[in-house]
Amino acid sequence: EKKLSIAIDGPAAAGKSTVAKVVAEKLSYIYIDTGAMYRALTYKALVNNFNLEDENSLLDTLLATKLELFPSPNGQLVFLDNQEVTEEIRSSTVTNSVSIVAKHQKVREEMVRMQQSFAVNGGVVMDGRDIGTHVLPNAEVKVFLLASVEERAVRRHAENLQKGYPSDLEQLKEEIARRDKIDSEREFAPLRKADDAIEIDTTSLTIPEVVEKIMDLVHERV
Ligand code: C5P
Repeated sequence: EKKLSIAIDGPAAAGKSTVAKVVAEKLSYIYIDTGAMYRALTYKALVNNFNLEDENSLLDTLLATKLELFPSPNGQLVFLDNQEVTEEIRSSTVTNSVSIVAKHQKVREEMVRMQQSFAVNGGVVMDGRDIGTHVLPNAEVKVFLLASVEERAVRRHAENLQKGYPSDLEQLKEEIARRDKIDSEREFAPLRKADDAIEIDTTSLTIPEVVEKIMDLVHERV
């Protein structure tokens, strides 16, 4: 059976990673969370007090960084220079700075190069913002997940509380909206639905229902 490339894009907290993980597991494909790569670079830049507007030094940092993604039963483990940072890169400090790091063209070009190298043999489910438009323009299946800001904030809030993290719904709404704005308005490779992506509004759908819709698209292609 042919091994496809599946691109899943959409705004912040739309459920991309949750859904992508399940689809990857069902197909025995590799799941690649590209947001984690931007988060890892942001984490390193913050720890070292770098200026997040300095494109050239961020690129130099990225080129000098060993960034590894390992599949795990819960999704993906992230290692930065041999240190595990899977949890650290989810902090609100990183979340609220990552879109600044991710707007730089030189950083993005290097990230895209790495992401494409992970996908050379197909059999991948990759989630992000520019996968269908830039990273895997030839992906056989492209999905753009949507949900209202309200719904996304409510979901993220519930997730935070369940994990025992402090969480403020109104603040989450603001943060999600601000991140979407920066991601959509950046000059290079903004968050955008690819022309040939299938849009799925998940606002009133459960995770299994979204997964099912994507699996239907996969079965149309194999
Ligand atoms: O997917 P996640 O919310 O973890 O992504 C974190 C941030 O990384 C996004 O808000 C965006 O700024 C950036 N990103 C990106 N392109 C991708 C994946 C993530 O610009 N393909």
